[in-house]
Amino acid sequence: MAKDGEKSDWKEFIWNPRTREFLGRTASSWGLILLFYVIFYIFLAGLFALTMYVMLQTLDDHKPTWQDRLSTPGMVIRPKADETFEIVYNIHKTESWDMYTEILNKFLTPYNNSLQAQKNDECTPDQYFQQDDSGDVKNNPKRSCQFNRTMLADCSGIEDRYYGYQEGKPCIIIKLNRVIGMLPGKNGQAPYVTCGAKREDSDKIGELMYYPPNGTFNLMYYPYYGKKAQVNYSQPLVAVKFLNITVNEDVNIECKINANNIPTGNERDKFAGRVSFKLRINTMY
Ligand SMILES: *[C@@H]1O[C@H](CO)[C@@H](O)[C@H](O)[C@H]1NC(C)=O
Ligand SMILES: *[C@@H]1O[C@H](CO)[C@@H](O)[C@H](O)[C@H]1NC(C)=O
Ligand SMILES: *[C@@H]1O[C@H](CO)[C@@H](O)[C@H](O)[C@H]1NC(C)=O
Ligand SMILES: *[C@@H]1O[C@H](CO)[C@@H](O)[C@H](O)[C@H]1NC(C)=O
Ligand SMILES: *[C@@H]1O[C@H](CO)[C@@H](O)[C@H](O)[C@H]1NC(C)=O
Repeated sequence: MAKDGEKSDWKEFIWNPRTREFLGRTASSWGLILLFYVIFYIFLAGLFALTMYVMLQTLDDHKPTWQDRLSTPGMVIRPKADETFEIVYNIHKTESWDMYTEILNKFLTPYNNSLQAQKNDECTPDQYFQQDDSGDVKNNPKRSCQFNRTMLADCSGIEDRYYGYQEGKPCIIIKLNRVIGMLPGKNGQAPYVTCGAKREDSDKIGELMYYPPNGTFNLMYYPYYGKKAQVNYSQPLVAVKFLNITVNEDVNIECKINANNIPTGNERDKFAGRVSFKLRINTMY
């Protein structure tokens, strides 16, 4: 009896034909709850869309909203065969250095004079190439300056297809990482690269030749406005040729950027503005 009572209680709870209640609520009560949730979720979706819309309005396609405060840009070298920062080869074994010249060929192709003439402008050297937006009027796309491959002279791979590797006078190419808005020199002084040997190797490094002259990054390549604003930007390069480096020994070399307004090697990043690598040229058969 009691069991029967419980069962009918349950049944009645699910559907009570007397009061016409389903799960304890009438149809209109259920309808109101449903209506409430529908409105509530539409409201949430609307709020989300509005927030996104407002956020996206504040973004600019052509420059990052947030950028780490500029300290010192990193430097990289080419050829860099792997992660080790070692250039080791034997001048008598073509296969030990031809990968280096291949990397340089590939790296320098976009700098071919013909391509540069197509894509970029001949700018006035020794001054910044400013192309600022005037208020809300965007000055896009922005032009970029030519960096011709021939400016690397003996390290351009044009006259000397092997970049000096086969005669033990190899070229290394250095570039500075891109930093949007960086103005790397004060008072018209362009930043320049210098390379030297680590202490114990100082008598092994021999004479160096820099291209362009003095190893400068001309001011006309700055400021950089970002990938979207300055589509054809070619990073300026500096090539270093080792004219009389000691062979059959490891030589540890460090190159750094010298600029009168960017500090090198601050506490936060000891490797900022400098790059180290090992160069070893073997001459044994
Ligand atoms: C770039 O120049 C090099 C050397 O002169 C040449 O071998 C190569 O074919 C050129 N590449 C393009 C894409 O123009
Ligand atoms: C780069 O090379 C092109 C084609 O040879 C030449 O017209 C242009 O003047 C050169 N630009 C610079 C900055 O030397
Ligand atoms: C980028 O280079 C292409 C040719 O490759 C040229 O048509 C275009 O005008 C250049 N754009 C800018 C902004 O310099
Ligand atoms: C290279 O540096 C020397 C000495 O600092 C200077 O006299 C010379 O004009 C510079 N050359 C170039 C092409 O900037
Ligand atoms: C090359 O370096 C050696 C010492 O490593 C030196 O004796 C020699 O005079 C140098 N040659 C030139 C042309 O500078």
